[in-house]
Amino acid sequence: MFKEQKQYDLSQEEKIIILGSPSDSKLAAAIFTALDYDPESLEGAFECLNPLKKLKAKALIVLNTEKFDDISTVDEPFKGIQNLKNDALVLVDTFKETHHSLLAEKLGVHHYKFTEFKTDKGALKTIHYHGNDLTAFNQGIILSEAINFTRDLVNRPYNALNAEKLADIALTFADIDNVTVKVLEKADCETMGMGAFLGVNKGSKDAPKLIHITYKGDAGSQENTALVGKGVMYDTGGYSLKGVQSMPTMKMDMGGAATVLGAMRAIANLRLNANVSVVIAATDNKIGDDAIVPDDVLVSAQGTTIEIISTDAEGRLTLADALWYAQKEGATRMIDVATLTGAVVAALGDEYVGAFTNNETFYQALGASAKISREHVWLLPIGNAHRKSIESQVADLKNSGGRLGGASIAAAFLDNFVNKEIPWVHLDIAGTAYKKESGATGVMVKTLTNLFN
Ligand code: BES
Ligand code: MN
Ligand code: ZN
Repeated sequence: MFKEQKQYDLSQEEKIIILGSPSDSKLAAAIFTALDYDPESLEGAFECLNPLKKLKAKALIVLNTEKFDDISTVDEPFKGIQNLKNDALVLVDTFKETHHSLLAEKLGVHHYKFTEFKTDKGALKTIHYHGNDLTAFNQGIILSEAINFTRDLVNRPYNALNAEKLADIALTFADIDNVTVKVLEKADCETMGMGAFLGVNKGSKDAPKLIHITYKGDAGSQENTALVGKGVMYDTGGYSLKGVQSMPTMKMDMGGAATVLGAMRAIANLRLNANVSVVIAATDNKIGDDAIVPDDVLVSAQGTTIEIISTDAEGRLTLADALWYAQKEGATRMIDVATLTGAVVAALGDEYVGAFTNNETFYQALGASAKISREHVWLLPIGNAHRKSIESQVADLKNSGGRLGGASIAAAFLDNFVNKEIPWVHLDIAGTAYKKESGATGVMVKTLTNLFN
């Protein structure tokens, strides 16, 4: 999609041209002169100029840097990019380093369309870049590609993306420097006693996969941050079956897995100075002769026994064993990302990610990263009432507790599988990972990446 080019011929029908500031870009200065345009006169977030046949380009968009920094207006100039036909578009600005990367990122994510299953995929448009900071621009491209990678995975339906296919995609990460990938099979998970994860898989014809990716970008550090993603490839609810209204979109129930894979991609490709691993317990949640039913008791790898109240509270079961595994493999801090509860959607809607933690300092670091990434995260509590509500009569825990405070109850459940001394943040992205109208968002990829930047 992006192409660097040394020669500029504006009589060509270029799709998008990005220029540096008039002061350090002769081309920008020449265009402004040709159009009698004074960039100082710009007031709004951006302005669309009509080149009046002085250029082949049909429109020039001039960006106001200050507005570009503003979270509420940053996306404005890019809204139409997705539907560009052949129009040439020029973006001109006085750029700071961060603007080059932000510009590239925004161009990339707004240019995105999920066309995998469209017969007519449309013509791929090229974005040409001419600017004074190719390094920063390329960083933005890496980030946008990681975000779009996540969106592709989330948008892809279950019949095109089951646990096995996700594992195959994860294996391709081994091509990136300093990255190693391991895929553990059902038998390996049985050996480790992952009864909670495997319990969810029992109704499925598709084998479960435990995906473990390691990136070593900071050999001198003992810190090892595990990003654990919920990888429920499809959530029918199991025998606690979802309804006609609530089942559609459940292909997105691997959104947490897609998010941590996207973040890993960006972190490794940007060669960030950190040690990061990804753990995904991937399976679908379906019905079959062998599927678990409510009242069953599962034994997790940690040894904790779990009474099943609802087979639809499956994400926490897969995460329980994934969190255990991440710690066994030496995680010093953990962030799990999961489309975990409808309750977080009711509480926060589709803009704010719900966060939970056992360590305020660690959460502050993530919150700071969310802020510079222009993503919204809101801390919610894990209280004693939440913990009490999942006490079971027959087992150590039950997997669902009452109707109220469901997002916090799910977090309280997960907390049982995190060692007290391991800083941990749980991100519930059920409301934010996917929008009915526009599909996958790629939320949190940037925040997780910037945490290590
Ligand atoms: N995958 C769902 C949560 C979800 C809901 C994600 C809406 C995205 C949009 C999860 O597995 C689930 O079914 N949770 C139940 C838990 C309940 C049975 C305790 C829920 O939220 O209803
Ligand atoms: Mn469910
Ligand atoms: Zn689910």
